[in-house]
Amino acid sequence: SLSFTTVKALSESGLSSIPSSFASKNSLEDIPVINPPQGTLPIIDFSLLTSTDPQQRSKTIKDLGKACEEWSFFMLINHGIPESLTNRMIQGIAEFFDLPDKEKREFQGENLYDPIRCGSSFNPVKEKVHCWRDFLKAFVHPEFHFPHKPTGLRDTSFEFIKNVREITRELLKGVSESLGLEPDYIAKAVNLESSLQVFAANLYPPCPQPELAVGLHPHSDHGLLTLLLENGISGLQTLHNGKWVKVHAPPNALMVNTADQLEIVTNGKYKSNIHRAVMYSTATRISMGIANGPSFDEVVRPAPDLVDESQPAAYRAITYREYYRIQQANALNNKSALDTIR
Ligand code: SIN
Ligand code: FE2
Repeated sequence: SLSFTTVKALSESGLSSIPSSFASKNSLEDIPVINPPQGTLPIIDFSLLTSTDPQQRSKTIKDLGKACEEWSFFMLINHGIPESLTNRMIQGIAEFFDLPDKEKREFQGENLYDPIRCGSSFNPVKEKVHCWRDFLKAFVHPEFHFPHKPTGLRDTSFEFIKNVREITRELLKGVSESLGLEPDYIAKAVNLESSLQVFAANLYPPCPQPELAVGLHPHSDHGLLTLLLENGISGLQTLHNGKWVKVHAPPNALMVNTADQLEIVTNGKYKSNIHRAVMYSTATRISMGIANGPSFDEVVRPAPDLVDESQPAAYRAITYREYYRIQQANALNNKSALDTIR
Protein backbone atom coordinates (compact mmCIF):
# COMPACT_ATOMS: atom_id res chain seq x y z
CA SER A 1 0.00 0.00 0.00
CA LEU A 2 0.93 3.59 -0.48
CA SER A 3 3.11 5.40 2.01
CA PHE A 4 1.46 8.53 3.29
CA THR A 5 3.36 11.65 2.25
CA THR A 6 1.23 14.73 2.29
CA VAL A 7 1.52 17.54 -0.20
CA LYS A 8 1.69 19.81 2.83
CA ALA A 9 4.90 18.09 3.97
CA LEU A 10 6.25 18.34 0.44
CA SER A 11 5.41 22.05 0.32
CA GLU A 12 7.04 22.64 3.70
CA SER A 13 10.21 20.83 2.67
CA GLY A 14 11.09 24.01 0.78
CA LEU A 15 11.59 22.52 -2.66
CA SER A 16 12.06 25.00 -5.51
CA SER A 17 10.43 22.94 -8.25
CA ILE A 18 7.66 20.38 -8.24
CA PRO A 19 8.31 16.63 -8.64
CA SER A 20 7.57 15.56 -12.22
CA SER A 21 4.63 13.44 -11.02
CA PHE A 22 2.80 16.73 -10.31
CA ALA A 23 3.59 18.41 -13.62
CA SER A 24 0.50 18.51 -15.72
CA LYS A 25 -0.37 18.92 -19.35
CA ASN A 26 -3.89 17.99 -20.22
CA SER A 27 -6.40 18.69 -22.92
CA LEU A 28 -8.34 21.24 -20.91
CA GLU A 29 -5.30 23.35 -20.13
CA ASP A 30 -5.09 25.13 -23.44
CA ILE A 31 -8.49 26.71 -23.22
CA PRO A 32 -8.82 30.34 -22.10
CA VAL A 33 -9.26 31.37 -18.48
CA ILE A 34 -11.40 34.41 -17.90
CA ASN A 35 -11.92 36.71 -14.97
CA PRO A 36 -15.62 37.54 -15.30
CA PRO A 37 -16.87 41.08 -14.66
CA GLN A 38 -18.79 41.37 -11.41
CA GLY A 39 -22.40 40.28 -11.81
CA THR A 40 -21.60 37.65 -14.47
CA LEU A 41 -21.87 34.57 -12.27
CA PRO A 42 -25.35 33.90 -10.93
CA ILE A 43 -26.10 34.79 -7.31
CA ILE A 44 -29.10 33.29 -5.56
CA ASP A 45 -30.44 34.93 -2.40
CA PHE A 46 -31.56 32.07 -0.16
CA SER A 47 -33.70 34.36 2.00
CA LEU A 48 -35.83 35.16 -1.07
CA LEU A 49 -36.14 31.49 -2.00
CA THR A 50 -37.64 30.80 1.42
CA SER A 51 -39.63 34.05 1.42
CA THR A 52 -43.34 33.99 2.26
CA ASP A 53 -43.89 36.55 -0.49
CA PRO A 54 -45.00 34.33 -3.40
CA GLN A 55 -43.78 36.78 -6.05
CA GLN A 56 -40.28 36.99 -4.62
CA ARG A 57 -40.17 33.26 -4.24
CA SER A 58 -41.29 32.52 -7.78
CA LYS A 59 -38.84 35.04 -9.26
CA THR A 60 -36.02 33.42 -7.28
CA ILE A 61 -37.06 29.95 -8.47
CA LYS A 62 -36.89 31.22 -12.04
CA ASP A 63 -33.39 32.62 -11.42
CA LEU A 64 -32.38 29.32 -9.83
CA GLY A 65 -33.58 27.33 -12.83
CA LYS A 66 -31.74 29.67 -15.19
CA ALA A 67 -28.52 29.35 -13.13
CA CYS A 68 -28.78 25.55 -13.20
CA GLU A 69 -29.47 25.47 -16.91
CA GLU A 70 -26.94 28.04 -18.08
CA TRP A 71 -24.12 27.70 -15.55
CA SER A 72 -24.64 24.49 -13.56
CA PHE A 73 -23.40 26.75 -10.83
CA PHE A 74 -24.43 29.62 -8.57
CA MET A 75 -23.31 31.46 -5.47
CA LEU A 76 -25.68 31.37 -2.54
CA ILE A 77 -25.96 34.42 -0.27
CA ASN A 78 -28.05 34.99 2.86
CA HIS A 79 -28.07 31.24 3.46
CA GLY A 80 -28.48 31.73 7.19
CA ILE A 81 -25.39 29.84 8.40
CA PRO A 82 -23.78 32.17 10.94
CA GLU A 83 -20.38 33.46 9.94
CA SER A 84 -19.09 32.41 13.36
CA LEU A 85 -19.90 28.79 12.41
CA THR A 86 -18.29 28.89 8.95
CA ASN A 87 -15.23 30.57 10.50
CA ARG A 88 -14.94 27.85 13.16
CA MET A 89 -15.27 25.25 10.42
CA ILE A 90 -12.43 26.72 8.37
CA GLN A 91 -10.26 27.19 11.45
CA GLY A 92 -10.92 23.63 12.62
CA ILE A 93 -10.08 22.14 9.23
CA ALA A 94 -6.86 24.15 9.12
CA GLU A 95 -5.99 22.64 12.52
CA PHE A 96 -6.82 19.18 11.26
CA PHE A 97 -4.39 19.53 8.35
CA ASP A 98 -1.81 20.88 10.82
CA LEU A 99 -1.90 17.63 12.82
CA PRO A 100 1.30 15.60 12.46
CA ASP A 101 1.13 13.23 9.47
CA LYS A 102 1.43 10.35 11.91
CA GLU A 103 -1.91 11.32 13.45
CA LYS A 104 -3.62 11.92 10.10
CA ARG A 105 -2.44 8.51 8.93
CA GLU A 106 -4.93 6.96 11.36
CA PHE A 107 -7.64 8.20 9.01
CA GLN A 108 -5.98 7.11 5.80
CA GLY A 109 -8.63 4.49 4.93
CA GLU A 110 -8.09 1.54 2.64
CA ASN A 111 -11.38 1.32 0.88
CA LEU A 112 -13.61 3.75 -1.04
CA TYR A 113 -16.51 3.03 1.27
CA ASP A 114 -14.53 3.65 4.45
CA PRO A 115 -16.52 6.35 6.24
CA ILE A 116 -13.43 8.47 6.91
CA ARG A 117 -10.56 8.82 4.46
CA CYS A 118 -7.61 11.13 4.44
CA GLY A 119 -4.94 11.38 1.77
CA SER A 120 -3.32 13.37 -1.00
CA SER A 121 -4.19 14.13 -4.60
CA PHE A 122 -7.35 12.27 -5.77
CA ASN A 123 -6.50 8.69 -6.61
CA PRO A 124 -2.69 8.35 -6.51
CA VAL A 125 -2.76 4.72 -7.65
CA LYS A 126 -4.76 5.39 -10.81
CA GLU A 127 -3.77 8.85 -11.95
CA LYS A 128 -0.92 9.91 -14.24
CA VAL A 129 -0.52 13.34 -12.74
CA HIS A 130 -1.04 14.02 -9.04
CA CYS A 131 -3.02 16.95 -7.69
CA TRP A 132 -1.34 19.48 -5.39
CA ARG A 133 -3.89 18.76 -2.71
CA ASP A 134 -4.43 16.96 0.59
CA PHE A 135 -7.93 15.91 1.57
CA LEU A 136 -10.14 14.64 4.34
CA LYS A 137 -13.40 12.90 3.39
CA ALA A 138 -16.10 11.72 5.73
CA PHE A 139 -19.57 10.24 5.33
CA VAL A 140 -21.57 12.55 7.55
CA HIS A 141 -25.18 11.49 6.91
CA PRO A 142 -27.33 9.42 7.49
CA GLU A 143 -24.66 8.30 9.95
CA PHE A 144 -22.28 10.94 11.17
CA HIS A 145 -18.61 9.97 10.95
CA PHE A 146 -15.86 12.45 11.68
CA PRO A 147 -12.35 12.49 13.18
CA HIS A 148 -12.28 13.14 16.92
CA LYS A 149 -9.49 15.66 16.54
CA PRO A 150 -8.77 18.52 16.73
CA THR A 151 -10.95 19.12 19.80
CA GLY A 152 -14.32 20.62 18.98
CA LEU A 153 -14.24 20.16 15.21
CA ARG A 154 -16.50 17.13 15.30
CA ASP A 155 -19.30 19.07 17.01
CA THR A 156 -18.79 22.11 14.79
CA SER A 157 -18.99 19.91 11.69
CA PHE A 158 -22.14 18.21 12.90
CA GLU A 159 -23.82 21.60 13.25
CA PHE A 160 -22.51 22.92 9.95
CA ILE A 161 -23.54 19.83 8.01
CA LYS A 162 -27.04 19.86 9.46
CA ASN A 163 -27.40 23.44 8.19
CA VAL A 164 -26.12 22.40 4.77
CA ARG A 165 -28.66 19.56 4.66
CA GLU A 166 -31.54 21.92 5.41
CA ILE A 167 -30.38 24.40 2.78
CA THR A 168 -30.03 21.60 0.24
CA ARG A 169 -33.56 20.43 0.91
CA GLU A 170 -34.89 23.95 0.20
CA LEU A 171 -32.72 24.31 -2.90
CA LEU A 172 -34.03 21.01 -4.26
CA LYS A 173 -37.59 22.20 -3.71
CA GLY A 174 -36.79 25.24 -5.82
CA VAL A 175 -35.04 23.10 -8.43
CA SER A 176 -38.09 20.80 -8.64
CA GLU A 177 -40.43 23.74 -9.04
CA SER A 178 -38.20 25.33 -11.66
CA LEU A 179 -38.82 22.20 -13.74
CA GLY A 180 -42.58 22.39 -13.26
CA LEU A 181 -42.58 19.54 -10.73
CA GLU A 182 -44.07 19.40 -7.24
CA PRO A 183 -41.71 20.92 -4.63
CA ASP A 184 -40.95 17.55 -3.02
CA TYR A 185 -40.60 15.68 -6.32
CA ILE A 186 -36.82 15.30 -6.34
CA ALA A 187 -36.65 14.69 -2.58
CA LYS A 188 -39.06 11.78 -2.99
CA ALA A 189 -37.37 10.46 -6.12
CA VAL A 190 -34.00 10.14 -4.34
CA ASN A 191 -35.15 9.37 -0.78
CA LEU A 192 -33.58 12.58 0.50
CA GLU A 193 -34.50 11.81 4.13
CA SER A 194 -31.70 9.21 4.08
CA SER A 195 -29.45 11.32 1.87
CA LEU A 196 -25.78 10.39 1.79
CA GLN A 197 -23.74 13.48 2.54
CA VAL A 198 -20.02 13.31 1.89
CA PHE A 199 -17.89 15.99 3.45
CA ALA A 200 -14.61 16.69 1.63
CA ALA A 201 -12.06 19.21 2.87
CA ASN A 202 -9.24 20.27 0.56
CA LEU A 203 -5.88 21.78 1.43
CA TYR A 204 -3.88 23.39 -1.40
CA PRO A 205 -0.51 24.27 0.15
CA PRO A 206 1.86 26.84 -1.38
CA CYS A 207 3.40 25.48 -4.57
CA PRO A 208 6.76 26.55 -6.02
CA GLN A 209 5.43 26.24 -9.61
CA PRO A 210 1.71 26.94 -9.53
CA GLU A 211 1.58 27.38 -13.32
CA LEU A 212 2.74 23.77 -13.83
CA ALA A 213 0.73 22.02 -11.15
CA VAL A 214 -2.98 21.30 -10.77
CA GLY A 215 -4.94 21.72 -7.54
CA LEU A 216 -7.73 19.41 -8.56
CA HIS A 217 -8.14 18.05 -12.09
CA PRO A 218 -11.30 18.95 -14.00
CA HIS A 219 -14.23 16.82 -12.91
CA SER A 220 -17.89 16.88 -12.01
CA ASP A 221 -19.21 15.94 -8.57
CA HIS A 222 -21.08 12.72 -7.86
CA GLY A 223 -24.07 13.92 -5.81
CA LEU A 224 -27.08 16.14 -6.49
CA LEU A 225 -25.75 19.49 -5.28
CA THR A 226 -22.32 20.31 -3.84
CA LEU A 227 -22.13 23.24 -1.45
CA LEU A 228 -18.63 24.69 -1.16
CA LEU A 229 -16.99 26.98 1.34
CA GLU A 230 -13.47 28.45 1.12
CA ASN A 231 -11.05 30.30 3.38
CA GLY A 232 -11.28 33.64 1.58
CA ILE A 233 -8.76 32.58 -1.07
CA SER A 234 -10.49 31.88 -4.35
CA GLY A 235 -9.31 29.14 -6.67
CA LEU A 236 -12.34 27.42 -8.13
CA GLN A 237 -12.80 27.63 -11.90
CA THR A 238 -15.96 26.55 -13.62
CA LEU A 239 -16.20 25.49 -17.26
CA HIS A 240 -18.69 27.62 -19.18
CA ASN A 241 -19.10 27.92 -22.96
CA GLY A 242 -15.65 26.49 -23.54
CA LYS A 243 -13.84 28.76 -21.11
CA TRP A 244 -12.59 28.45 -17.56
CA VAL A 245 -14.34 31.10 -15.50
CA LYS A 246 -12.66 32.16 -12.26
CA VAL A 247 -15.05 32.15 -9.33
CA HIS A 248 -14.75 35.01 -6.84
CA ALA A 249 -17.45 34.39 -4.26
CA PRO A 250 -18.81 37.20 -2.07
CA PRO A 251 -17.70 36.93 1.59
CA ASN A 252 -19.47 34.11 3.43
CA ALA A 253 -21.29 32.94 0.28
CA LEU A 254 -21.53 29.26 -0.50
CA MET A 255 -20.64 28.09 -4.00
CA VAL A 256 -23.03 25.53 -5.42
CA ASN A 257 -22.32 23.04 -8.20
CA THR A 258 -25.08 21.00 -9.77
CA ALA A 259 -23.80 17.44 -9.90
CA ASP A 260 -24.14 14.08 -11.62
CA GLN A 261 -27.13 12.66 -9.72
CA LEU A 262 -29.10 15.81 -10.51
CA GLU A 263 -28.22 15.43 -14.18
CA ILE A 264 -29.55 11.86 -14.06
CA VAL A 265 -32.76 12.74 -12.21
CA THR A 266 -33.50 15.72 -14.47
CA ASN A 267 -32.75 13.55 -17.52
CA GLY A 268 -30.01 15.92 -18.62
CA LYS A 269 -32.06 19.10 -18.29
CA TYR A 270 -29.64 20.34 -15.63
CA LYS A 271 -26.11 19.23 -16.48
CA SER A 272 -23.45 18.58 -13.89
CA ASN A 273 -20.80 21.25 -13.57
CA ILE A 274 -17.22 20.66 -14.74
CA HIS A 275 -14.79 22.51 -12.52
CA ARG A 276 -11.18 22.48 -11.35
CA ALA A 277 -9.11 24.13 -8.62
CA VAL A 278 -5.84 26.01 -8.73
CA MET A 279 -3.23 26.79 -6.07
CA TYR A 280 -0.79 29.63 -5.37
CA SER A 281 2.89 30.12 -4.71
CA THR A 282 2.55 31.68 -1.26
CA ALA A 283 -1.07 31.47 -0.09
CA THR A 284 -2.59 28.34 1.42
CA ARG A 285 -6.06 27.67 0.12
CA ILE A 286 -8.60 25.61 2.05
CA SER A 287 -11.96 24.63 0.64
CA MET A 288 -14.61 22.22 1.80
CA GLY A 289 -17.40 20.77 -0.23
CA ILE A 290 -20.39 18.85 0.96
CA ALA A 291 -21.77 16.50 -1.68
CA ASN A 292 -25.47 16.08 -0.99
CA GLY A 293 -26.70 12.97 -2.69
CA PRO A 294 -29.57 10.54 -2.89
CA SER A 295 -29.78 7.75 -0.37
CA PHE A 296 -26.79 5.47 -0.99
CA ASP A 297 -28.98 2.48 -1.85
CA GLU A 298 -31.46 4.35 -3.99
CA VAL A 299 -31.70 3.28 -7.61
CA VAL A 300 -31.47 6.62 -9.38
CA ARG A 301 -33.02 7.10 -12.80
CA PRO A 302 -34.36 9.94 -14.91
CA ALA A 303 -37.58 11.21 -13.31
CA PRO A 304 -40.60 9.66 -15.09
CA ASP A 305 -42.15 13.12 -15.44
CA LEU A 306 -39.11 14.26 -17.47
CA VAL A 307 -39.06 11.28 -19.81
CA ASP A 308 -41.27 10.93 -22.87
CA GLU A 309 -41.05 9.89 -26.51
CA SER A 310 -39.27 13.05 -27.54
CA GLN A 311 -36.93 12.91 -24.52
CA PRO A 312 -36.11 9.26 -23.84
CA ALA A 313 -34.15 8.35 -20.71
CA ALA A 314 -30.58 9.48 -21.34
CA TYR A 315 -28.98 7.41 -18.53
CA ARG A 316 -29.43 3.93 -17.24
CA ALA A 317 -30.74 3.38 -13.71
CA ILE A 318 -27.93 2.86 -11.18
CA THR A 319 -27.65 2.88 -7.42
CA TYR A 320 -25.88 5.90 -6.03
CA ARG A 321 -23.55 3.51 -4.20
CA GLU A 322 -22.41 1.97 -7.47
CA TYR A 323 -22.10 5.33 -9.20
CA TYR A 324 -19.99 6.65 -6.33
CA ARG A 325 -17.65 3.69 -6.72
CA ILE A 326 -17.23 4.30 -10.45
CA GLN A 327 -16.58 8.00 -9.90
CA GLN A 328 -14.14 7.59 -7.00
CA ALA A 329 -12.28 4.46 -8.11
CA ASN A 330 -10.85 6.02 -11.25
CA ALA A 331 -8.60 8.96 -11.97
CA LEU A 332 -10.27 12.31 -12.62
CA ASN A 333 -10.16 12.46 -16.41
CA ASN A 334 -11.43 15.92 -17.28
CA LYS A 335 -15.02 14.91 -17.72
CA SER A 336 -17.99 13.57 -15.90
CA ALA A 337 -18.20 9.89 -14.98
CA LEU A 338 -21.73 10.03 -16.41
CA ASP A 339 -20.26 8.91 -19.72
CA THR A 340 -20.14 5.40 -18.24
CA ILE A 341 -23.94 5.18 -17.83
CA ARG A 342 -25.23 6.89 -20.95
C1 SIN B 1 -13.91 20.30 -5.44
O1 SIN B 1 -14.12 20.33 -6.64
O2 SIN B 1 -14.32 19.34 -4.78
C2 SIN B 1 -13.18 21.39 -4.73
C3 SIN B 1 -13.04 22.61 -5.56
C4 SIN B 1 -12.39 23.72 -4.78
O3 SIN B 1 -11.41 23.50 -4.07
O4 SIN B 1 -12.85 24.86 -4.92
FE1 FE2 C 1 -15.69 18.99 -7.21
